[in-house]
Amino acid sequence: MNQEIKPQELLNNGYELVVAESPSNIALVKYWGKLKGQIPMNPSISYTLDKCKTTFEVYYKKLATPAESPIFYFEGLIANKFAGKTLKLIDTIASDFKELRNYHLVLNSRNSFPHSSGIASSASSMSALAFCLMDILEKSSDTNLVSYYARLGSGSACRSVFSPMASWGKIKNIENTSDKYATKISDKISTELRLVGDTIVLVHEGEKAVSSTDGHALMNSHHFRENRIKNAHKNYLSLINALELGDIDSWGQIIESEALELHAMMMTSDPAYLLMKPMTLEVIEKVRQIRKEHSVNTFFTLDAGPNVHILYPLSEKDVVIPLLKKFLSPLKMIHDQVGKGTKLIKSKKC
Ligand code: DP6
Repeated sequence: MNQEIKPQELLNNGYELVVAESPSNIALVKYWGKLKGQIPMNPSISYTLDKCKTTFEVYYKKLATPAESPIFYFEGLIANKFAGKTLKLIDTIASDFKELRNYHLVLNSRNSFPHSSGIASSASSMSALAFCLMDILEKSSDTNLVSYYARLGSGSACRSVFSPMASWGKIKNIENTSDKYATKISDKISTELRLVGDTIVLVHEGEKAVSSTDGHALMNSHHFRENRIKNAHKNYLSLINALELGDIDSWGQIIESEALELHAMMMTSDPAYLLMKPMTLEVIEKVRQIRKEHSVNTFFTLDAGPNVHILYPLSEKDVVIPLLKKFLSPLKMIHDQVGKGTKLIKSKKC
C-alpha cells in the first residue's frame, strides 16, 4: 500500500469528505477515576482552548456490503499503529449505527502542536473524530450526541465540543449535568473569568511514563478514593460560585489545589508514580513568585503530565506574557487562550 494519502485519488474514486477541527481543553476541576462505560467518578470543569487543536479529515464511501477496515493516516502518512483509540471509537459508533459498517473510511488527522510536546491529543482528536462520524450519519447538529461519543473515545474529549467552558459529570440537584456528555457553561460566568489565557510551559517533551487511562484505573482501589470524590464535588461547587462572582482569588486557589491533588493521587496510588519533573516544581514556584511580586493573576494547573498550564485573565495578557518570557525562558511556551469548541470545516452538506 502507498504510504502517503492521495486525497484527489480518493475523491475521484467516489469518496466524499468531511473535515472537522476540535481543540484541546484544560480542566480546572479534574476528571480522575472512572466507572464502567467511561462514566466519571467525579464532575469536572474545563476551559476549551483555541490554538492547540486537531483537524480530522474523513474520506468515506458507501458500499452495498460491509466495508474493509478503515485506513488511518497521521499528517498524511500511513499510521495504523497509532490508530488504537480511533478504530475503537469507529467500532463503538458502528455498533450503535449499523449503517456505518457499510462505509469505507480513510482518515487523516493532524495536530497544531508537535507530536512530542507532551500535550495530550486525545481530547482534541476524539472530539473531532466523533463530530466527523456523526456528520456522516447526519447527526452532527446534535451536540450532546457528539459529546456522548467523544466521551467514549476519551473521557475529557466530551468537554472539547463546547465553549467557552464545559462541565461533565452528574451532580445531584443540578439540572443539565450528565455523566454521559458534557454541557456548556457560560451564561453566568463573569467576563474576567470567561476570557482567560493559558500559557503552556513545555517542561518535558515526550511520552508519559503512565498513561491517563492507567492512572484512572488506579483510582478504583485508591485509599483516598472517597475523599477525592467528595473534594472534587466541593471544589466544583466552589469554582462555579467563584466563576459567577468573578472571584479571582478563589478561582486561582481552587485550580492550583486541584492540580496538586491530582498529582497527589498519582503519588499515593498503588503502585505510586510521579509525572512531575524537577522543572515542573521550579515553574510552579516562579508562577507564585511572579504573582506576588508583580501583582498579576497568574495561577498554575497541571494535566496528567509534567507540563505547566499558566492561567490568567486575558485582560492581563500584555503584562503577563512578557513576565513569563522574562522569568521562564528558555523553556518553550505555547500562548493559548479560550476558544470555540468543535467545528465543521468542510462537508458534503456545505
Ligand atoms: C488529568 O480523558 O485523557 O487530563 O478517558 O482514559 O481517555 P481517558 O482519559 P483522559 O483523562 C484526562 C485526565 C486529566 C484531567 C481532565 O482532563 O479532566
